[in-house]
Amino acid sequence: MAISDHELIQAWKEVLTLSKLEPGQTVTVLTSAATHPQTLSTALTAAAMLGAVVNRLDLQPVNGEKALSRDSLAYLGTTPLTGNKAAIAALKASDLVLDLMTLLFSPEQHEILATGTKILLAVEPPEVLARMVPTLADRARVLRATAKIEKAKTMRVVSAAGTDLTCPMGEFPAIAEYGFCDTPGRWDHWPSGFALTWPNEKQTQGTIVIDRGDILLPMKRYVAEPITITVKDGFARSITGGVDAELLAEYMESFKDPEAYAISHIGWGLQPRASWTTLALYDREATIGMDARAFEGNFLFSLGPNNEAGGSRSTTCHIDIPLRKCTVSLDGEEVVRLGKVLDQGQE
Ligand SMILES: [Fe+2]
Repeated sequence: MAISDHELIQAWKEVLTLSKLEPGQTVTVLTSAATHPQTLSTALTAAAMLGAVVNRLDLQPVNGEKALSRDSLAYLGTTPLTGNKAAIAALKASDLVLDLMTLLFSPEQHEILATGTKILLAVEPPEVLARMVPTLADRARVLRATAKIEKAKTMRVVSAAGTDLTCPMGEFPAIAEYGFCDTPGRWDHWPSGFALTWPNEKQTQGTIVIDRGDILLPMKRYVAEPITITVKDGFARSITGGVDAELLAEYMESFKDPEAYAISHIGWGLQPRASWTTLALYDREATIGMDARAFEGNFLFSLGPNNEAGGSRSTTCHIDIPLRKCTVSLDGEEVVRLGKVLDQGQE
């Protein structure tokens, strides 16, 4: 359903205020061919209303001919910033970058964040942004979860469908995604609401069963027949099942990259305003699936790179898979039981 300009301007003002935008600071809005015009115009208006100096930087799309999907998260690797010194300089000189194109992780982005520039990604359609305007309560909930991850040495995930996965942790930091950038050099994504980390290199063992109703991204598909993934020494060694398993396996094979099969980020969804059902209601071209990644109580795991966490693995393949009805434990303490978040915090 459509959102009024007024409502989306209000939403932007809320997010920019949570991101501690001050009058006189410089905001650069990053755009490309697929940027939503209403998201762009309301971002420019809201930032100006809060007294910022506002720029727009429009970059050329890349990788379209290489990717099998139109999904902006499906294909990593080079970005429009690769070798683009003028754009990098403009972004480094900005206090806040509103990324309406999907810059994604790259050495250039790390370089920009290291100067203190904040980057907020916002590419979901306007009504999804408006439904999931972040709050301080979202932040508190996600930070409680990342504090638990930071202390833990092992994450174990089990389900009645047959998942039994053990992930030793500690080599990589815990990451909180709560939807706004309130500290210098912070990257975040509106909408989001989840806690994640990466398992230690080559140590994850066990079995993952992607059950009926679990979601494959970027396929944006609810699995109809279970898929069994056998994980040994940190890599998916086999992907078996019916047609869904064949789709996943053949798509991954197309990248011709053994690194694509590594277990990447692991964590759980903490956003009560995200919904498991949303993907069933949307055209697949209309969304990148943040509802699926963030709905409360999912176990979200990924196959592919760990370079965004400081690891050495980069691969262009990026698969995210949220599972329902899992029990997630950290060093034996349950944090999600049967797909419900156990959270003792006050809100
Ligand atoms: Fe991911």
